[in-house]
Amino acid sequence: MTETDKKSREQESDAMKITVTKNGPYIVTGGVPLIQMEICNDDEGYCRTWREVKRFPVEETYALCRCGHSENKPFCTGMHAKIGFDGTETAGNEPWLRHPRIIRGPELELHDYENLCVHARFCMRAGGIWGLTEQSDNPEAREIAIEEACNCPSGRLVMKDRETGKVIEPDLEKSIVIIEYPPRGEHGPLWVRGGIPVVSADGKPYHIRNRLTLCRCGKSENKPFCDGSHVQH
Ligand code: FES
Repeated sequence: MTETDKKSREQESDAMKITVTKNGPYIVTGGVPLIQMEICNDDEGYCRTWREVKRFPVEETYALCRCGHSENKPFCTGMHAKIGFDGTETAGNEPWLRHPRIIRGPELELHDYENLCVHARFCMRAGGIWGLTEQSDNPEAREIAIEEACNCPSGRLVMKDRETGKVIEPDLEKSIVIIEYPPRGEHGPLWVRGGIPVVSADGKPYHIRNRLTLCRCGKSENKPFCDGSHVQH
């Protein structure tokens, strides 16, 4: 790729944005790639890997359903108006971002933003990410703990290297992923990857993160973010 190509690609991705509309869909602009992915289990039944199922043709602008009632998911078909969807944004000014639960192990430090859990369950393998962090002077435990944190789509789990003080983040393509989990028949949130800005209906930008998840069932009590309400307990 030439320098000019690189620059124009960077400019294109700078233009990417997701705007929440009042009681309506997410308006996605800037040609954001839209992908459907599934969470796959390992032989022991633990969530382990992602599988890309489908890429939608790239559109400059499109509207994604957030009420959960579209007849053509993931796109909005106007059903939100017919059902009188109340999409009031309740995420506030995200004070939780300043107060994660912190687990300090010998080499790793886990920042756990519990109210962002979307039940993707990557964190449960090998005894769970919390215990693995506490044993992070064991190379195998350390490796699994990092893998589990990086697979967490919502960014509930963020791992830091204690020696360098650096946050360990996965390198993610700027894109929106529709999460599906066939083993449980769950239709998960929209996984916003690579730091795409999300702006509220009244023009307020949310904190930009490498990983975050937006509600697409309409039931979250932390709109526009997913709070795991799509999962039946
Ligand atoms: S938000 Fe428009 S159909 Fe769901």
